[in-house]
Amino acid sequence: MSLRRLFGKKEKQERRILRQIERSGDQLQPEYHRPTPECPHPERWQMYDSMTAEVEVLEFLRTLVTTIKPELVVETGTFSAISTLWIAEGLKANGRGRVISCEFDEPIYRNAKARIEGSGLAEWIELRNESSLEMKIEGTIDLFFSDSDMPIREQEIRRFLPQINPCGIILMHDASSHLKTVRDAALNLEKDGLISAVLLPTPRGLVVAQRKLPRS
Ligand SMILES: C[S@@+](CC[C@H](N)C(=O)[O-])C[C@H]1O[C@@H](n2cnc3c(N)ncnc32)[C@H](O)[C@@H]1O
Repeated sequence: MSLRRLFGKKEKQERRILRQIERSGDQLQPEYHRPTPECPHPERWQMYDSMTAEVEVLEFLRTLVTTIKPELVVETGTFSAISTLWIAEGLKANGRGRVISCEFDEPIYRNAKARIEGSGLAEWIELRNESSLEMKIEGTIDLFFSDSDMPIREQEIRRFLPQINPCGIILMHDASSHLKTVRDAALNLEKDGLISAVLLPTPRGLVVAQRKLPRS
C-alpha cells in the first residue's frame, strides 16, 4: 500500500497546510471552495486556509458565544486552533465559560497548544489530544461545534447528543451540497427526529441545529 493511502490524503493535506502557515503566517485570502447552488459566490467570503473555517464563520462563532453565553463549548477538530481562539474571545467577553477542543493528531495538537499558549486566551481553553469518538466530557454542553473528519460527524453528534443542552446549539461545519457527507449526516439526524437543522449557505456550509425535543 502506498504511503499516501496508508496515512490518508486528508492527514497529509493538514500537515502540508500547517507547514505553509509556519512559513508565511496566517494569510487572509478570498475563499476558493467551488461555488454551489446555495452559495454561488464563495469569493465574497474570506479564509485563512482551506482547513480553518471561513472568517465569517469565525465571526459567527464568536457572536454566537456572546449571544447565548455558554458555560461549556465543545469543539471537535482543533487544527491550528483559530476557531478555538475565536470561541475563547467570545467567552472572555462574557467573562465566563470554557471551551474544550480535541485534536487527535499529535503534531497538529502540539502546534495548536503552542498557538494557544501564546494567545493570552489559554485560561478559557482546555485542549485535548484525543479523538472525538473517545473523548469523555462531564456535564452539559451548551454549544457543540463539530469540525473534525467529515465521515465521522454523524457518529460524533449521536455520541454527544444526550449531553447537549436541549436549549443549546449544535453547529456542523462543511455541510455544503458539494461536501455532501456532512449535509447528509445532518439530514439523517433530522430524519431520525433527533435534531432540527437550518442549512446556512456559506461556501463550505454550516448547519445550525438544536435537539428535537418537546418545546417548553
Ligand atoms: C477542518 S480541521 C478543524 C478546523 C478548525 N476547527 C478551525 O476552524 O480552525 C479538522 C481537524 O480535525 C482533526 N480530526 C479529524 N478527526 C478527528 C477526531 N475524530 N477527533 C479529533 N480530531 C480530529 C484533524 O486532524 C484536523 O486537524
